[in-house]
Amino acid sequence: MKKEPITLRYIHILGTVVFFTSISSLVILLALYLNQRLQTSLFLQNDHLSYNPLTYPTLSPAPPPHGSDMADKELMRRAAMAPREAVMNETHPKVAFMFLTRWNLPLSPLWEIFFKGHEDFYSIYVHTSPEFTEEPPESSVFYKKRIPSKTVEWGQSSMMDAERRLLSHALLKPSNSRFVLLSETCIPLFNFTTVYTYLMGSTRSFLGSFDDPRPMGRGRYNPKMLPHVSLSDWRKGNQWFELSRTVAAEIISDDRYYNVFKDHCRPPCYIDEHYVPTLVNKICPEMNSNRTVTWVDWSRGGSHPATFVRKDIRVGFLDRIRLGSNCSYEGKVTNVCFLFARKFHVSTLEPLMKIAPYLYGI
Ligand SMILES: *[C@@H]1O[C@H](CO)[C@@H](O)[C@H](O)[C@H]1NC(C)=O
Ligand SMILES: *[C@@H]1O[C@H](CO)[C@@H](O)[C@H](O)[C@H]1NC(C)=O
Ligand SMILES: *[C@@H]1O[C@H](CO)[C@@H](O)[C@H](O)[C@H]1NC(C)=O
Ligand SMILES: *[C@@H]1O[C@H](CO)[C@@H](O)[C@H](O)[C@H]1NC(C)=O
Repeated sequence: MKKEPITLRYIHILGTVVFFTSISSLVILLALYLNQRLQTSLFLQNDHLSYNPLTYPTLSPAPPPHGSDMADKELMRRAAMAPREAVMNETHPKVAFMFLTRWNLPLSPLWEIFFKGHEDFYSIYVHTSPEFTEEPPESSVFYKKRIPSKTVEWGQSSMMDAERRLLSHALLKPSNSRFVLLSETCIPLFNFTTVYTYLMGSTRSFLGSFDDPRPMGRGRYNPKMLPHVSLSDWRKGNQWFELSRTVAAEIISDDRYYNVFKDHCRPPCYIDEHYVPTLVNKICPEMNSNRTVTWVDWSRGGSHPATFVRKDIRVGFLDRIRLGSNCSYEGKVTNVCFLFARKFHVSTLEPLMKIAPYLYGI
C-alpha cells in the first residue's frame, strides 16, 4: 500500500470531518425547522378554535395559564351564571362600590360620612395588595369588606384580573344593580342620595369610550388581534367605570376577547384602558353612555393625571368639577356630569372633611 504524505492524509481526514459536520448540522436545522412549522400550524389552528388554555399544544413553551387560578376561574364561572337583572325581594336595589386599592383607604373618613345612614342601599368590596391585612375597626363601613386579592401591577393584565375579581364578587349578590369601580384617591362629589338616584335612574352604563386617533389610542391597536378585534372596534376609556348589572355580567362572561387582549395588548398598550371600552363597544354599544362619571385632570399631560393636594381644596375648585360641565343624561342636558373625582392626596382629607357639610348638604 502506497503511503500518502502526512499533509495529504491530514487534509483527507479534515475534509471528512467537515463533510460529516455539515451533513449533521443540516439534519439538525431541518429537524428544528419542521418542529417549528408543526408548532406554528397547531397554534394557529388552535387560535381559531378557542383560547382554552387546556387545549394549547404541549409542544410549545407552556403559556401562562389564563385567568390566574382555579379559585378565580370558579368565582368567575359562578358570577357569569348570576342573574342579569338585579333580584330583590325584601331588599332595595344596591349600588356596589368596588375599591381597587394598593394599600389602605386614606380618605375613608370622607367615605364613612358619605355612606352613613344608607346601609340598605349599598354594598362595598375592597381589593388590596395581598400583603395588606389590616382590618378597619368594627364600626367602619369597610370592616371585613376585603375580598381575596392578588398582586396588581400597573398597566398589566393583573389589574384587569383584579377588576374582574371585584365584579364577580359583586355580581354574586343578586340585589347589586349598579357597579362602581373606585381607587383609594377617589372622592364622592355629591351625597349618597344624589349619587344613588343618578345611577339607578340611568338606563345606560357610564363607561368612558372613544376612538382616539392618536398614537396613544389607535397606535396601541395590534393587528394580531384580527379577526376578533378590528381597528374600527378599538376604543379607549377611563378605567374607573360605572356599569349596569347587565353590562357587568357581559364582561364577566367574556373569555374570548379577554384572552386576545392578554396576548396582544401589552405595554405601551394598557389593557385597563382598552379592554372594557372595546368589549362593550363590540357586544353592547347601545347600553353605554360612553362617558365616565369619575372626573380626572389630564390637562397637565404625561401618562398619569394630576394629583391634588391640600392647597387645591377650595369650594370653587370642587364646584367647577361638580357643576361646571354639560352632558347628556337620559336624553336631557344636565350640568351634573361627574359623581366622583380623583386623584386626591391624603393631605386633602382635612380640608375635605371641613367642607363635607357643604358638599353633601348635611
Ligand atoms: C328572598 O331572597 C332570599 C335569598 O335570596 C330567599 O331565601 C327567600 O326565599 C326570598 N323570599 C321571597 C319571599 O321570595
Ligand atoms: C356610544 O357609542 C356607541 C358606539 O360606540 C353607540 O352605539 C351608542 O349609541 C353611543 N351612546 C350614546 C348614548 O350616544
Ligand atoms: C352649559 O350649558 C349652559 C346652558 O345651556 C350654558 O350657559 C353654559 O355655558 C354651558 N357650560 C359649559 C361649560 O359648556
Ligand atoms: C343631597 O344633596 C342634594 C343636592 O345634591 C340636596 O338637595 C339634598 O338635600 C341632599 N340630601 C341629603 C339627605 O342630604
